[in-house]
Amino acid sequence: MARLCFSTLLVTLLLYNVAFCFPDYTSLAGLSARELDSIIPHLTIRALPSPPGPLNNPLAKLVNDPAHPWIAPGPNDMRGPCPGLNTLANHGYLPRNGIVTPSQIVTAVQEGFNMGNDLAVFLAYAVHLVDGNLLTNLLSIGGKTSETGPDPPSPAIVGGADTHAVFEGDASTTRADAFFGDNHSFNETLFDELTAFSNKFGGGAYNLTVASEIRFQRIQDSIATNPQFSFVSPRYFTAFAESFFPLAFFVDGRETNSLTLDLTVARGFFQDGRMPDDFFRSNISWTLGAIGGGVEVIFEAHPVLPGANNGTINSYTVDPNSANLSDGCKAYTDFVDVIVRGLYPSATGPLLQALNQNLDFFFGAISTSGCTQVPAFV
Ligand code: HEM
Ligand SMILES: *[C@@H]1O[C@H](CO)[C@@H](O)[C@H](O)[C@H]1NC(C)=O
Ligand SMILES: *[C@@H]1O[C@H](CO)[C@@H](O)[C@H](O)[C@H]1NC(C)=O
Ligand SMILES: *[C@@H]1O[C@H](CO)[C@@H](O)[C@H](O)[C@H]1NC(C)=O
Ligand SMILES: *[C@@H]1O[C@H](CO)[C@@H](O)[C@H](O)[C@H]1NC(C)=O
Ligand SMILES: *[C@@H]1O[C@H](CO)[C@@H](O)[C@H](O)[C@H]1NC(C)=O
Ligand SMILES: *[C@@H]1O[C@H](CO)[C@@H](O)[C@H](O)[C@H]1NC(C)=O
Repeated sequence: MARLCFSTLLVTLLLYNVAFCFPDYTSLAGLSARELDSIIPHLTIRALPSPPGPLNNPLAKLVNDPAHPWIAPGPNDMRGPCPGLNTLANHGYLPRNGIVTPSQIVTAVQEGFNMGNDLAVFLAYAVHLVDGNLLTNLLSIGGKTSETGPDPPSPAIVGGADTHAVFEGDASTTRADAFFGDNHSFNETLFDELTAFSNKFGGGAYNLTVASEIRFQRIQDSIATNPQFSFVSPRYFTAFAESFFPLAFFVDGRETNSLTLDLTVARGFFQDGRMPDDFFRSNISWTLGAIGGGVEVIFEAHPVLPGANNGTINSYTVDPNSANLSDGCKAYTDFVDVIVRGLYPSATGPLLQALNQNLDFFFGAISTSGCTQVPAFV
């Protein structure tokens, strides 16, 4: 992977006391006009292709096939908090180095797991807008496996799908809250808790009842132990969705309707990013609407509204300014108007153009949902 390295006095003084390399997959979000001026001339600006369309054959098929063997990531390969994307990279549906384009994410999640096109485009462009480099069209799915150990490097370099409280967030199923240090690695203590819940509520497997109970338990854990617990949109939405994802995507496509996930299979995905031998992808395309149905069931079991602790434990307070599950358009609008706008206060020229093009692709995923598109940034 080509890296841009420069050690101008400016960059040295501003950032580190060493020569600074700016990888071409690192997000330009949050940089000042001056920093952008020094970095952008060194980037290869790419034309942005439109997102891929849906699968031609949206049914189950063998996906752990001879063309896509599991290979453990090497020390320089990027892996992150998402077991779905890690699995796709380990099986070669995504580039094995973990540096990807949003189009590659869309194609891979559809081909490997039968994610519906609207959801695939929505997630891929949402994460790209926050964590990707909009000019090179590259995004890292996490950090180098050799660097994401106990002594993590600067978040600016880890980058990837890990911007806290936007995509990576609190109350994950098998990853600890950022407050406790490591927010992206598989956590055995949490998997043990998942196992106990599966034994108690699912007869030893992960099903919709377990998903509802463990989602609530993880929220209660964070309220009781993490003074900085934050559970507002968009994390609020992704937390519920990710509790349903294992039932949609990790269950073999010959038993899609069972919505029941064996725990050994679950561990393979969560811990090793690995499909079982002979794995078939889901037999239906999981669109935003289909996932929404599962989310609704999980929410209704324990209807926690968006909110946060206030700096002390056990102080969870509902945040009336956050979008809740009954207002998806507000979630979209706030994401664009507050989060993305806040990340790019100084975008002009080609960066502004790329930003608006990505925002168009992102809105394309929900253009038939009745939400009004936020006007282009100027
Ligand atoms: C389409 C693009 C996708 C993006 C951008 C994405 C991104 C992410 C991110 C950033 C997280 C971490 C959130 C956290 O802090 O817990 C996450 C979690 C998760 N993702 Fe993905 N993901 C995508 C697709 C998938 C797919 C296809 C699957 C399943 C095959 C999947 C399964 C999961 C699960 C189960 C979690 C929760 C992990 C846990 O809580 O322990 N994701 N994803
Ligand atoms: C999340 O983890 C990464 C890698 O360990 C770390 O650099 C980053 O600071 C963490 N985020 C927060 C908010 O603690
Ligand atoms: C695993 O998660 C638990 C509960 O959040 C936390 O106390 C523990 O420190 C985490 N372990 C590691 C190794 O991060
Ligand atoms: C989950 O499994 C348990 C134990 O078999 C069962 O009682 C429960 O009804 C299941 N939940 C769903 C939603 O099927
Ligand atoms: C998938 O669903 C179709 C109907 O939509 C059915 O004909 C086919 O047998 C199913 N395939 C599997 C592997 O269950
Ligand atoms: C946080 O919430 C707790 C419990 O609701 C309350 O006692 C405390 O005064 C609040 N602290 C702040 C800083 O708002
Ligand atoms: C959810 O949000 C909508 C508008 O954003 C608000 O009108 C509604 O009261 C909220 N629901 C709850 C239960 O707070």
